[in-house]
Amino acid sequence: MFMGTEKLTHTYMPGTPFANEALKEVTFDVKQGEFVLVIGPSGSGKSTLIQHLNGLLSPSSGKVYFDGNAISSDKRELFKLRRRVGLVFQMPEEHFFSETVYDEVAFAPRNLGFDESEVQIRVSSALEEVGLDAGTLAERHPFQISAGQKRLVALASVLSLNPEVLILDEPTAGLDSSGRRNLFSLLTRLNRSKGLTVLICTHHLDEVAALADSVLVLHHGRLIFNGPAGEIFSRREQLYELGLGLPAVTEILFGLSEKGMKVRTDIYTLEGARLEINKVKRRHEK
Ligand SMILES: Nc1ncnc2c1ncn2[C@@H]1O[C@H](COP(=O)(O)OP(=O)(O)OP(=O)(O)O)[C@@H](O)[C@H]1O
Ligand SMILES: [Mg+2]
Repeated sequence: MFMGTEKLTHTYMPGTPFANEALKEVTFDVKQGEFVLVIGPSGSGKSTLIQHLNGLLSPSSGKVYFDGNAISSDKRELFKLRRRVGLVFQMPEEHFFSETVYDEVAFAPRNLGFDESEVQIRVSSALEEVGLDAGTLAERHPFQISAGQKRLVALASVLSLNPEVLILDEPTAGLDSSGRRNLFSLLTRLNRSKGLTVLICTHHLDEVAALADSVLVLHHGRLIFNGPAGEIFSRREQLYELGLGLPAVTEILFGLSEKGMKVRTDIYTLEGARLEINKVKRRHEK
């Protein structure tokens, strides 16, 4: 197994009247290079789950795996793990602590002991990669930039380590449409060209769903569906019952199918829908 969990259970504040079992026996497996969406209603355990994958939270019971091995609680091992598995928090600004954007992005490479010239190269290329203009932003205080820019700074901080796995919690929150487009092309490049494994928690399917290979669906801390994206998105009624939606493209195909058009409803990319609709049109024209 490249990475995943086995019967992972997490209880916040165990042994207190506030004990809360946020994950219940979650088992899944992610292949190297896969693009995975983690969806589920608010409070279903998405953020709790992904924070186990780079050792920020440790299981109450069960196991978490990376690169074939169970994650240990040894500090040095965790340090190595976090270098390979980068995580951008849901509210990244809550975790900023440097005086400038430059220092914020430089923190991790400095911490790993790179010399200043290497740090500078990594910071500039990470800022460029996320589409931030270092010239105007690098010397600003991280609190004196916009919400979308803060999110991109947090992403740059993680990219400065050249991780093998990128985990993003609600990455599109606060981004304008060009920011979302940039993020989409950055993720396409990182996953499809550089081979990074990507996991994304999101409520906004239209922005990244087209890249998904597989989808995990959480509900009240349980993993209730786990499978190829097309298969999961074709379960419209079950997703509706959970209060979840579908990518707009899939929604349109369901609409056409209800009008009697014989189209597949397990398609979730624009290109896939275009090919499917053309195929059906040609069938009709014969
Ligand atoms: N630090 C914490 N202490 C105690 N309980 C927590 C803590 N963080 C989350 N929880 C609880 O754990 C459960 C899962 O929360 P989690 O943040 O993982 O959900 P989520 O799926 O990420 O939700 P959202 O879509 O709103 O981000 C919820 O019941 C939440 O109230
Ligand atoms: Mg969350």
